[in-house]
Amino acid sequence: MIPRILLLALLALPLTAQRRSDAPTWDEIYAARGGNVPVKPSALVLETTASLPPGEALDIGMGNGRNAIYLARKGWKVTGIDISKEAVKLAEAEAKKLGAPIEAKVSRFEDLPPYLNRFDVILCMYVQDLATKNARKIMDMLKPGGLLIVEGYHDAAPALAGRAGYGTNQLLRTFNRLHILRYEDREMQPEWAAVPQARVPVVRLVARKD
Ligand SMILES: C[S@@+](CC[C@H](N)C(=O)[O-])C[C@H]1O[C@@H](n2cnc3c(N)ncnc32)[C@H](O)[C@@H]1O
Repeated sequence: MIPRILLLALLALPLTAQRRSDAPTWDEIYAARGGNVPVKPSALVLETTASLPPGEALDIGMGNGRNAIYLARKGWKVTGIDISKEAVKLAEAEAKKLGAPIEAKVSRFEDLPPYLNRFDVILCMYVQDLATKNARKIMDMLKPGGLLIVEGYHDAAPALAGRAGYGTNQLLRTFNRLHILRYEDREMQPEWAAVPQARVPVVRLVARKD
């Protein structure tokens, strides 16, 4: 049984942890919260991939695999990576339970080999400002015709205190070599929330490598 005070602290951790991107902290979150993190696939992933034929996908910072497993169940070949061993354990267990195999790896994205022109879809959902920091590598990994899907906090989100989110139009500028299909910057209830029900500035990008 986790003491209530520790549990409350851990529930408030995701944003702090995203700032530090530090593996033990994410391990603590997943170990303590177990299934108590978002489990439904992302609305943006559902909408964007609904009419795509299955191909090969990379989920960067997949967490418990909610999106990776969704795609695998639709017939996609999915590689999901995360720095947290606990997250990868949860994802592997769920994938096995659902009979939806994924290639799950404990790895920093920064340490992955640069798989050139390989993926039909790359997801980067609520992984701090990883997409802009690793833009060139992400774009190189996309197949021509492949889609990049990013969702995360705007850096004005109060809990981020101006750190490590995406700035206004930053995703647009950074990925301007891609064909931007969708961009949103608006207040909404984020799928990963330190405070449930709170609306905060969130950015979303869907872009294609032509
Ligand atoms: C807020 S969670 C989001 C998880 C998942 N994308 C989702 O939307 O449910 C952020 C995840 O990114 C992972 N992460 C943070 N920095 C990373 C990095 N540099 N490389 C790979 N994973 C990273 C964390 O371990 C954590 O599981």
